[in-house]
Amino acid sequence: MANHKKISDARKDFPLLDQMVNGKPLVYLDNAATMQKPHEVIDTVTEVYTKYNSNIHRGTHHLSNVCTEAFEEARIKIQKFINAGYSHEIIFTRGTTESVNLVANTFGDAFLKEGDEVIISELEHHSNIVPWQLLRERKGIELKVIPITEEGELNMEVFHSLLSDRTALVAIAHVSNALGTINPIKEIISAAHAKDIPVLIDGAQAVHHFPVDVTELDCDFYAFSGHKLYGPTGIGVLYGKEKWLNKMPPWQGGGEMIKSVTFEKTTFNELPFKFEAGTPHYAGAIGLGKAIDYLTSYQWDEIINFEKELLDYATEKLLSVDGLKIYGTAKNKSSVISFLVDGIHPYDMGVMLDKMGIAVRTGHHCAQPVMDKFGIPGTVRASFAIYNTKEDIDKLVEGVIKIKSIF
Ligand code: ALA
Repeated sequence: MANHKKISDARKDFPLLDQMVNGKPLVYLDNAATMQKPHEVIDTVTEVYTKYNSNIHRGTHHLSNVCTEAFEEARIKIQKFINAGYSHEIIFTRGTTESVNLVANTFGDAFLKEGDEVIISELEHHSNIVPWQLLRERKGIELKVIPITEEGELNMEVFHSLLSDRTALVAIAHVSNALGTINPIKEIISAAHAKDIPVLIDGAQAVHHFPVDVTELDCDFYAFSGHKLYGPTGIGVLYGKEKWLNKMPPWQGGGEMIKSVTFEKTTFNELPFKFEAGTPHYAGAIGLGKAIDYLTSYQWDEIINFEKELLDYATEKLLSVDGLKIYGTAKNKSSVISFLVDGIHPYDMGVMLDKMGIAVRTGHHCAQPVMDKFGIPGTVRASFAIYNTKEDIDKLVEGVIKIKSIF
């Protein structure tokens, strides 16, 4: 049996956590925005630049070959991580946002026509709303929105009623960044597929919390970011089924994505390179491969149980604070808690917590329709990772109580 690491030992792997902020030991609870990076990932990126930095797929020389090999190894690690059928179904992008934009600009421009409908939901991040609105401007498509309940769950009855002959795509978050809701994407995918409708999943808030198997899910596209997966910023992934990626036209033009260029005609490279114009962020991709090695050195069951324990503990403690309301009470939730305290603006709460060394995110979390649904300007959001502790949560709750007493 493989020797798995213990989560209780994780914290020491993250050098950034060991610092004082505003005179207090840092409590980092802004993990849904970005995760901190373990030594191994930082060292890997440093190693690229200190030992074998060289442009990939182009050189005949040693460094270029080493760098190309490491880059393509990372692609295979990602393929295995999400159980994709082929490594050429893994397209490197800048992140989830670029992945969704790629689909909207290629699949959307090539296959969607005026009057076609794209189904999204009320809990989407702006990155899974705006690209479809831009497509609406270009092509005259329509957007249909699945509403959410008071608990922050998708209204599945409405979802099923929205599926029709006009539906051309369903684009939905796996996990809500603002509320933590884990959406029933298996049910969504199979209902859409029963009507031959492809499905894109925004997995930015999912892949680091539980295992994702794109073959089992049978989704057509799956997008995620490296920096939320304990990996580097500026690198992300679009998984697409080969049958779609082959049919889709390229998006950005440039080096690498071509087979031959003349002024009369250009022919395009094969997958995955057709969608990777220009020098890619190979140091980031190699770092992301290392982040996946790191994450999978723990057992998923342990990660899931640990994060659930933190979520339950934080929920109970926060709810004991008078006048505090949690937004997002779905039965199936990831380790994200959005809350407000009566009479305290989320921004004021965030600034005062920061004075105590506690980092949370405040505001609309790039999900303004969620805030509109609840009629609030924003929330205070605490989100947990494998290096957080119950003591971090105690400090957050003490901080909230102190701030409440000042107001
Ligand atoms: N999408 C990121 C968040 O939820 C930035 O904070």
